[in-house]
Amino acid sequence: MRALRALVVAALLCLVPVPPAHAADLTYDFEDGTAQGWGPRGDGVTVTVTQDAARTGSGGLAVSGRTDTWHGASIAGPFVRGVGYTVTAYARLAAGQPASTLAMTVQRTPTGGETTYERVAAATVTDGAWVRLSGSYLFTAESTDVQLYVESSDATSQYYLDDLVLSPLGDPTREPVTSDFEDGTAQDWSPRASAVLETGTTAHGGTRGLAVAGRSASWDGPALNVLGRMGKGDKYALSAWVRLGPDTASGRLGLSIERRTGGTPSYERVVAPKDVPAGEWVQLAGTYTLAHDVDFLSVYLESDTGTFPFHLDDFTMTYVEPKPIQTGIPSLKDEVPFTMGSAFTRPETLGVHGELLAKHFNGVTPGNELKWDATEPREGEFTFTDGDHLVNFATEHGMTVRGHTLAWHSQTPDWVFENATKEVLLQRLERHVRTLVTRYKGRIAAWDVVNEVVDENQPDGLRRSKWYEIAGLDFIRTAFRVAREADPDAKLFINDYNTEFPRKREALYKLVERLKAEGVPIDGVGHQLHLNIEQPPASAVEATIERFAALGLDQQVTELDVSIYTDFVSSYDTIPPELLVQQGHRYKELFDVFRRQAGSLSSVTVWGESDDVSWLRSWPIPRLNAPLLFDDDLQAKPAYWGVVDPSRLEPFVRELEAPAAAVKVDGRRDLEWDLLPDAPLARVGDVSAGFQARSSAAGLYVLAEVTDPAVSAGDRVTFTVDGRTRALGRNSPGVRRTATGYRVEALLGSGTDVEVAVHDRGTRTTWTGEVTPVPAVKRATAPRRPAPVLDGAVDRLWSGVPELRTGTWIQGESGATAKVRALWSGSTLYVLAQVTDPALSEESADPWAQDSVELFVDPGNGKTKGYEDDDGQYRVSFSGRVTVGGTFDASGVKDNVRAAAVTVPGGYVVEAAIELPTVTLGEGTLLGFDVQVNDATGAARTSAVTWNDATGRGYLDTSHWGVLRLAG
Ligand code: XIL
Repeated sequence: MRALRALVVAALLCLVPVPPAHAADLTYDFEDGTAQGWGPRGDGVTVTVTQDAARTGSGGLAVSGRTDTWHGASIAGPFVRGVGYTVTAYARLAAGQPASTLAMTVQRTPTGGETTYERVAAATVTDGAWVRLSGSYLFTAESTDVQLYVESSDATSQYYLDDLVLSPLGDPTREPVTSDFEDGTAQDWSPRASAVLETGTTAHGGTRGLAVAGRSASWDGPALNVLGRMGKGDKYALSAWVRLGPDTASGRLGLSIERRTGGTPSYERVVAPKDVPAGEWVQLAGTYTLAHDVDFLSVYLESDTGTFPFHLDDFTMTYVEPKPIQTGIPSLKDEVPFTMGSAFTRPETLGVHGELLAKHFNGVTPGNELKWDATEPREGEFTFTDGDHLVNFATEHGMTVRGHTLAWHSQTPDWVFENATKEVLLQRLERHVRTLVTRYKGRIAAWDVVNEVVDENQPDGLRRSKWYEIAGLDFIRTAFRVAREADPDAKLFINDYNTEFPRKREALYKLVERLKAEGVPIDGVGHQLHLNIEQPPASAVEATIERFAALGLDQQVTELDVSIYTDFVSSYDTIPPELLVQQGHRYKELFDVFRRQAGSLSSVTVWGESDDVSWLRSWPIPRLNAPLLFDDDLQAKPAYWGVVDPSRLEPFVRELEAPAAAVKVDGRRDLEWDLLPDAPLARVGDVSAGFQARSSAAGLYVLAEVTDPAVSAGDRVTFTVDGRTRALGRNSPGVRRTATGYRVEALLGSGTDVEVAVHDRGTRTTWTGEVTPVPAVKRATAPRRPAPVLDGAVDRLWSGVPELRTGTWIQGESGATAKVRALWSGSTLYVLAQVTDPALSEESADPWAQDSVELFVDPGNGKTKGYEDDDGQYRVSFSGRVTVGGTFDASGVKDNVRAAAVTVPGGYVVEAAIELPTVTLGEGTLLGFDVQVNDATGAARTSAVTWNDATGRGYLDTSHWGVLRLAG
């Protein structure tokens, strides 16, 4: 009778799938005196309902007669395919039974497959108290003979079961997953290997958290099965709080996902391991979009290295409802006279990201999927699953594809260069290029055949990559030759970043010119254009496109984005809205250039369709960045309107400093104006201009350098200062003709709200901003002398060299200072710093917190926010230790300095030689220059003083350094 009833229940459950959204819990409390479908599993096992076995009420299930570990109580067919469940049960051993591990397990047989056994939950159970077992379960493959049963690690354990609840999750992919460990259990977290998970009182919220110890590897730690809890193409916000365990002084922890498809695991980072200071709870928060069909999905915590213990608390994973994309706005691709492309990766083909791509872009570039590490991870083993998926997506949506990239120094597996003679390397390259280009013949319109091969800081302008070191230029020649052979119709590109900077532009130009002359089949030049909100000006981009147009090659903008940061360390918690407006105007100016140059430009690609997927969220450091046209919710930003309809942009008020100075108003460009760069007025037609101001008691001196080759009657510049307007035409006093237009100088009344407008026939280009008076820019002279011996001795050579003194305090108000002299010889700048500092310390591990002198040199006096790649911060400690700062990796400058230091009574002397290979030194050369003296007391810096820069940001920003003028 009982068996029959169980069968009926099972049959019903199998035939009538529980409607997911409204399904009720399945509860087994045994209060009706029956076993409610549960029965014995294994010969000799008995399952009875008794008062003894009750946790609540008067009935519970007693299981006895077991003789094997898999024996126990079981129920047939409680789960419906595709429905996720949380499963809880309470268990206790019969009196006198030794402790054992009880587990709830599901047995099922997938159609056409072998019977599987899947663990739902397990816990150590004793005869002393009821223990909660909980877990979650979902199966997706068609299966028969589905059973839930309770087994034990001890073959003869007699146990009681009560209050089992199987809760079908409405739509399990929409329900939040949370773990707070407040119930004293590990709440379904289990170790990945040997790690031991225990709840304890070290808690972030509430009174309990999970302690993780005994880890066997950096990847060993707590994991949570989330299979069925994420929908394909859906985005989730994940957050966990972590803290270091006992006796752990430092460590980095991160949050990752393991997913498996057909048994093959893949590991993805949700939050890259980050610093967890001892004694602090740190939040690991990030988002993840599931882009694959999976049969295993697990969230886990890991460290970057080490097996130190840690604590976990307050984990949440919540579905992020996508905002629908805006369908009523113009499609970018309809608004520009070239192919409008976006980089994309596999997850972005799904959901709203896929819709956004389809609406706005008619070109795409796989962001990573065609790189060497993705396509040939091991020699001769090619994988194209992701590449094919992306190329197919493009084909289905009528988009052209840029193939990125065939030969690069990055994202290339080590094996490529291992034991590689030139011949072997070129063979490997040839096979790789041929395989990829052949596979996508006719489907990939343009290939970045080589990527980032130029280094303008090398004498021959070529990057010292392994490619280059082993094969010289032949790797480039081979890659192009083979690509052309494999698909004669594909357009072949040489791609690089920073091509808008004159030195790199020229190095690339020379290379392309040379290769073309040799007959290397280069069809075009790709300009990555990873720009920032300030630099470089759109005019530099335009100059680059015009320069290469002369070579008669096609050009493409391949990776455009506009970082909101000008350096490699800053980071905002929330982005100031005015920055996004500024970015909108920047995109407008850039697209003005692209449209003007459309004759030379066949496509413009942004590096990602929306901010949430930008690589600049993790490079060069993890930080909030918003470099693209659509925001995290895929809504149009001011940047989008800058491209599509700039009239919708809010006006942007620029800021300009006016250093104290007086200039002669005569239309000549005095040295004073050369101390700082001109602020650009965007080009309209053929007219553009630069603007500067100086403040004085007499009023505001202004300068406008106008580029306007065609003389016409209406040519003039109007300055409006606090509402008062002054117009100056080509013939006004203080205006002079120049090679490309005219220069305007004037003394205006003082004021801060300034508009400069340059008029030409029907057009007008303007600059609107706020001008702030600041102290004069300091300048000093460095004479030419024979090269001094670098020994820290003040030779006679230095006598008569003008001296400057540090006096601008950026930390503290007194402390070590320096008298500094500079001279030059050949291509080298020599600096002598005599430092007054009676107590010297190198105790700190941070070089800037040791007694030291920093020399800042900007060879072009570019005064950029952020460092250009030849700008350097050269630090010499009192003991002669040298450290160098610059752009991201300071690679362009780190070998430029040699120094000697000697201690003398009351201080020390530093003598340094700084090579300046990127400029030609001569009479009148201007260098951006500054000096900073760091004063350490013990392990801390207690004061710092500079010559000119008062901002304290000289290590990030060159725009406030002083100026050194070289004399003959
Ligand atoms: C980036 C990808 O966007 C990232 O996902 C990846 O982690 C690193 O590479 N220049 C290039 C691109 O040519 O391939 C780079 O793409 C960005 C810089």
